[in-house]
Amino acid sequence: MLTGTGAGIGKATALLFASEGARLITVDRDREAGEKTLALIEGLGGDALFEQADTSRVEDSKRFLQAAVDAYGRLDIVFNCAGIVPVGTIAEQDEDEWQRALDVNLTGVFLGCKYALQQFLKQGDGGCIVNMASIAGLIGVKQRGAYCVTKFGVVGLTKSIAQDFAPHGIRCNCICPATVATESWHERVNNAPDPAEALRAFIARQPLGRVGTPEEIAHAALYLASDEAAYITGHSLVLDGGMAP
Ligand SMILES: NC(=O)c1ccc[n+]([C@@H]2O[C@H](COP(=O)([O-])OP(=O)(O)OC[C@H]3O[C@@H](n4cnc5c(N)ncnc54)[C@H](O)[C@@H]3O)[C@@H](O)[C@H]2O)c1
Repeated sequence: MLTGTGAGIGKATALLFASEGARLITVDRDREAGEKTLALIEGLGGDALFEQADTSRVEDSKRFLQAAVDAYGRLDIVFNCAGIVPVGTIAEQDEDEWQRALDVNLTGVFLGCKYALQQFLKQGDGGCIVNMASIAGLIGVKQRGAYCVTKFGVVGLTKSIAQDFAPHGIRCNCICPATVATESWHERVNNAPDPAEALRAFIARQPLGRVGTPEEIAHAALYLASDEAAYITGHSLVLDGGMAP
C-alpha cells in the first residue's frame, strides 16, 4: 500500500514497485491524478488498485488498508508518502495551515502505521513500513518551521515503532530527502518572488550541485522495503546531495 501516488515521489515509487512485480493499493486524495498513475501501472502490466482517500482521516485510512487485505488477502509493505509543504517561518505561520500540516504529515502517517501494524500483528509473520520524512526531520531548514515539526515527528514515530515491533519481525524505517524535483517543488520555485534566485538557493545548499529525482528516492524506498534490508529498522535514510553536515 502506497499513499500520495498521484504525483512526485509517491508516483515514481508506485511505478517502481509495480515494475518489480508488487501488487499495489495506491492512494491519493486527487482522484484524477491517482487514476492517471494507475493507468501507467496497468500500462506496465502491473497489478494495482486505486483508492481515493485523505490520509489524515481515520475512516479513510482504515478503508484503504482494508482494501489491500480484501484484494490480496494480506498486507506486506506500507509506504506512507503523502505530504504537504507549508512554507514560512513560525512567526508568520497561519494556524489553519499549521493544523493541516500536522493532520496530513504526522497524523496521516500515524494512522497509516497504526492500522498497518494491527494487520501485521493479525497476520503474525512480520511486515514492513517505510515512512516519508525529510532532511527537515533531522535538521532545521529555513522557511520550513511547521514542516520541520511534522517531519521530526515522523522520524520519532518511525524509531519508536521500530523499538516496539521488532520482536514481531516488523521493520519500520523512514526516508529523509533534501530537495527533490517533483511537480510541487517546481511550483514552489515558480511561485517564489524571484524564481531564478529560489532555484539557485535550492541548488547552492546541496554540495553535489543538483536536487534529487523522484526515481532516486523511489529506489531508496524499494531497498528499505526489500529483504536485502532485513537487518535495518528504526533508520532514517538520508538522500540529500550532501546537504546535512
Ligand atoms: N519534493 C521534495 O523536495 C521532498 C523532499 C523531502 C521530502 N518530501 C516528502 O515526500 C512526500 C511527497 O512529496 P512530493 O514532492 O512527491 O509531493 P507532491 O506534491 O508532488 O505529491 C504529493 C501527492 O500526495 C497527495 N496528497 C497530499 N495530501 C494528501 C492526503 N492528505 N491524502 C492523500 N493524498 C494526499 C497529493 O494529491 C499528491 O498527489 C511528502 O511527504 C514530502 O513532504 C518531498
